[in-house]
Amino acid sequence: MKVVVLTGAGISAESGIRTFRDANGLWEGHAVDQVATRAGFGRNPGLVNRFYNQRRRQLREVEPNAAHFALAQLEQRLGDDLLLVTQNVDDLHERAGSKRLVHMHGELLKKRCIWCEEVTLCNPEADLGPGDVCEKCGREMGMRPDVVWFGEIPYELDRIQAALETADLFAAVGTSGLVEPASRFASKARVFGARTVEINLSESARAAEFDEHLYGPASETVPEWVRRLVGDGGELKVETAYRFAMS
Ligand code: OAD
Ligand code: ZN
Repeated sequence: MKVVVLTGAGISAESGIRTFRDANGLWEGHAVDQVATRAGFGRNPGLVNRFYNQRRRQLREVEPNAAHFALAQLEQRLGDDLLLVTQNVDDLHERAGSKRLVHMHGELLKKRCIWCEEVTLCNPEADLGPGDVCEKCGREMGMRPDVVWFGEIPYELDRIQAALETADLFAAVGTSGLVEPASRFASKARVFGARTVEINLSESARAAEFDEHLYGPASETVPEWVRRLVGDGGELKVETAYRFAMS
């Protein structure tokens, strides 16, 4: 039984990390094009680095919640048959124990050089700033957070596509379904025969593309879903996927 789980900001909300979209469409008071585009970085690198520095510092104050832990347990059971794809740039999945994990929108704890594209780990104690020098090419003024901004191509799309094509089950957890290409994963997986499950506080923009819906806080719904999947006897009880039901 092959499973792909896509997570979004909603899974980290109960750990204390705010989701992206508030009622005004602002991210913590900033317009998206100020802090999440290459042009915004070009115009004001200081502001952009401060924005992500704050988010990086916040990671030291938060912990994974029961939803992150439940997905790590699911991986222990499924091994290579699970791929966890997260849009989140926090490190809560890995701190809960997940290993087969794709950070399709990058990671706050990594930095990238705009000149030579080298990606390196951030010093979690130190902020990124214009004075930082690239460890590989030695140039200044080019270290940016290794997060994928609007207009940039997310990481590992080929690996994700391959997993979607062979998945029996696809679940989207805590994501609004408003940002491409992740918003198209459910319908893609479905076309290739997967059963699709939406796990969210309430209906997302893409709710109609899911066969099953579980609404409530992720710290409750995700462990419940994993328990149901894994079953008491430890055997997987994923409802038979379309692929098999139709054959
Ligand atoms: P959003 O902020 O757009 O959506 C958060 C989703 O989480 C909403 O659908 C909420 O209903 C749901 N939610 C909130 N609290 C929850 C809880 N306790 N339990 C379950 N669900 C909850 O975040 P994303 O969909 O992750 O990209 O946003 C996608 C991308 O938009 C982000 O990765 C980011 C942004 O542009 C980049 O930075 C490239
Ligand atoms: Zn460089």
